[in-house]
Amino acid sequence: MSMRLRRLSRAATAGLVAAAALTAAAHSAEAADTLGSAAAGQGRYFGTAVAASHLGEADYTATLDREFSSVTPENEMKWDATEPSRGTFTFTSADRIVDHAQSQGMDVRGHTLVWHSQLPSWVGSLGASDLRTAMKDHINGLMGHYKGEIHSWDVVNEAFQDGGSGARRGSPFQDKLGDGFIEEAFRTARAADPAAKLCYNDYNTDGVNAKSNAVYDMVKDFKSRGVPIDCVGFQSHFNSNSPVPSDYRQNLQRFADLGVDVQITELDIEGSGSAQAADYTKVVEACLAVDRCTGMTVWGVTDKYSWRSGGTPLLFDGTYQEKPAYDAVLSALGGSGDPGDPGEPGEPGDGTASCTATYTRTADWNSGYNGQVTITAGDEPVSAWTVTVTLPAQQSVSSLWNGTPTWSGNVMTVKPSWNGTLAAGASTSFGFTAAKNGSDAAPAVGTCTAS
Ligand code: G3I
Repeated sequence: MSMRLRRLSRAATAGLVAAAALTAAAHSAEAADTLGSAAAGQGRYFGTAVAASHLGEADYTATLDREFSSVTPENEMKWDATEPSRGTFTFTSADRIVDHAQSQGMDVRGHTLVWHSQLPSWVGSLGASDLRTAMKDHINGLMGHYKGEIHSWDVVNEAFQDGGSGARRGSPFQDKLGDGFIEEAFRTARAADPAAKLCYNDYNTDGVNAKSNAVYDMVKDFKSRGVPIDCVGFQSHFNSNSPVPSDYRQNLQRFADLGVDVQITELDIEGSGSAQAADYTKVVEACLAVDRCTGMTVWGVTDKYSWRSGGTPLLFDGTYQEKPAYDAVLSALGGSGDPGDPGEPGEPGDGTASCTATYTRTADWNSGYNGQVTITAGDEPVSAWTVTVTLPAQQSVSSLWNGTPTWSGNVMTVKPSWNGTLAAGASTSFGFTAAKNGSDAAPAVGTCTAS
């Protein structure tokens, strides 16, 4: 399988992506007013799953192009879409997405090479030796076609069972090739495109639990034996039955500490309003708190096309309006404003002082933590600011620096001590030490007001 004849050579593509990164950085320095540019300001990408069939819809594509810096084909690179019969590869829909992404300077995540689902029936009917060959041919076929064009590949997806056992999930690969199929897939992938980051991707592994422990043990084993693995993807499909785990950041960090990147790969959180916004904030803050968390991808542009559309789990509603969750993510990424309607209160050009506040946990131990709130002025200079921070009921603050707090129950209202004056776009921060008293939850940072 030869590489596709691209309109852009690999070098030209790399140049385009680098130029896009520079543009994003410059954009971010001026006003980080989109998800992609705000994330770039934090050294991360912010992506979305994309379906080729929606690219003809003007609002869909306008939102995609304006807000996101990375795309993941939602279904178009899966085995049933790309090799429906053995040795016959079809890339039409996937190419459409990759071409579109490249035309906009976006990166592409590859999803996914070896998975038990969306697998054509011919794969399941092969004997072990033939299956091994078919798996390698499939990896080589896809990765060869897109060589140099994919920043990260989900090489193996969802190979572990849910529940407490930490066992591998039954699949044609597991059942006929045994545990070693994962390692063989990664070794094949490394040879097929040495420039791509190779990821293992799964769900219900977002917190510390039996399933994530099993994946952790596998990654640790791979690293100790030199099996090529570069990243672990945490799908992060959340709802009331599967909420954002309180140890989400710790779990990302322990994987990062094994020497791999971590990525949030399929984020969606069912809900609405401020509760949904607060959960999105937790996820973004967790990623930003982990140096090796290189980026986040939400699993779709708009609620109306989500695989869980009834749960309205995304950042844009069915008419592409920004939801409170969008504002929360943008704010947590350090961004502000809305390029679509300058002149609204607090937005560029209205002459009114404004600010945003973002929260990070900067230190963590069994009984307590240090939190930091960073206040960033909008497009006008600020002479004073006010931020409210609501702590979980059990927690108590023992000290606070670079700010002046007043208390009402578990809500602290913080004003400047010496640091009220900010030039347009400049930042300051205050910090505090809190005792957990049994709750490891993050505090909620309210709106920043400025004068
Ligand atoms: O394209 C056909 C259409 O022609 C047909 O009329 C229609 C009838 O059901 O089906 C359409 O295909 C559907 C496809 O999505 C495209 O919309 C499939 O039935 C449907 O099963 C498929 O669902 C996808 C699902 O993976 C399959 O497992 C979702 O879109 C996709 O969001 C979801 O993504 C997965 C990740 O790959 C892995 N992690 C979990 C995540 C959510 O399930």
